[in-house]
Amino acid sequence: LTVAVLISGGGSNLRALLEAAADPGFPARVIVVGADRPADGLAHAEAYGIPSFSVPFREFATREEWGDELAAQLRAWRPDLVVLSGLMRLLPAAVVDAWSPRIINTHPAYLPEFPGAHGVRDALAAGATETGASVIVVDSGVDTGPILAQERVAVLPGDDEATLHDRIKPVERRLLIDVVRRIATGELDLAAPAPTAHPTVT
Ligand code: GRF
Repeated sequence: LTVAVLISGGGSNLRALLEAAADPGFPARVIVVGADRPADGLAHAEAYGIPSFSVPFREFATREEWGDELAAQLRAWRPDLVVLSGLMRLLPAAVVDAWSPRIINTHPAYLPEFPGAHGVRDALAAGATETGASVIVVDSGVDTGPILAQERVAVLPGDDEATLHDRIKPVERRLLIDVVRRIATGELDLAAPAPTAHPTVT
């Protein structure tokens, strides 16, 4: 299974996927990494000798034009699967329509709880005692697609956004790698995903 990963930030989830895919036994390989800005995480692609591209959002007059360039890059690379992993940008409908359901996203909350760009901050603000990590199919909504995997993560007294996010990310990475593996082996059919919520983890 060939995978394109789109990021905006440090790419710690990307790095974990690259590490997993470096194992010859892993049934998927990352063929390109894309970003919507000069993301630090592009360095992980370089470290693994994987091509990358950047389509800087600020260089385009409209979201649609940005989306068209991103779509052109994705068409050129023709991945079997697109993984949004820390892409902090909503994709235009044209891109989602062209790729769904072969486009998945990781989110640092237990969807449908706390969707959107600040899931970690929102869980804290709500006084939640537990939150989670989710991997979903990207659809036309914001974090509303079918849930492929999710797992609870405890919120601890004294947590701030950074400490909570740092506790969520390792769970997120593990779920993402497992979902990519199951898509690659055909165990998980994106056209008919059976949600597999993992048991609550302390
Ligand atoms: C991840 O938690 C992702 O779900 C969220 O932002 C974070 C990105 O982290 N959208 P990184 O860039 O993978 O380190």
